[in-house]
Amino acid sequence: MALERTLSIIKPDAVEKHHAGAILALLEKEGFVVKAMKRIHLTRAEAEGFYAEHKARGFFGELVDFMSRSPIIILALEREDAVAKYREVIGATDPAKAAAGTIRKLFGASVGENAAHGSDKTETAAREIGYFFAGYEVSPTA
Ligand code: RTP
Ligand code: MG
Repeated sequence: MALERTLSIIKPDAVEKHHAGAILALLEKEGFVVKAMKRIHLTRAEAEGFYAEHKARGFFGELVDFMSRSPIIILALEREDAVAKYREVIGATDPAKAAAGTIRKLFGASVGENAAHGSDKTETAAREIGYFFAGYEVSPTA
């Protein structure tokens, strides 16, 4: 196992419901260190760019509407095996199928409004961190 970074987003639904603090606490308890953090309200174009891999999917318009509806909190997180471990901690995409104690089970309402995003691979994590943070904000010594 190696020390890794992953990109986490506390999505609009969770920020609106004031669950950001609880989600951060859970992540810290699971050993993730916050290396960078910001709160922004995505434009539609920024949300489209972030989820470009899903452009052809039927749910794309709905996903972009949702992600640009209100502010999100973006985190660059670090720990051993961060990408896989974070996917475990957020749980399945559909909160109804997510394991007990996971972020999506605790805070998600539906497949669309599922409280959190997580990078799916280490290469994806590097691209996603680069999408939202300038190099100096996430330098190896930061
Ligand atoms: P994310 O990228 O947000 O961490 O979610 P994920 O990897 O678990 O799922 P992904 O397949 O990447 O889908 C991205 C987001 O699109 C929404 N979605 N809606 N209506 C649907 O069938 C559907 N499928 C996916 C979800 O909000 C999902 O998180
Ligand atoms: Mg995904």
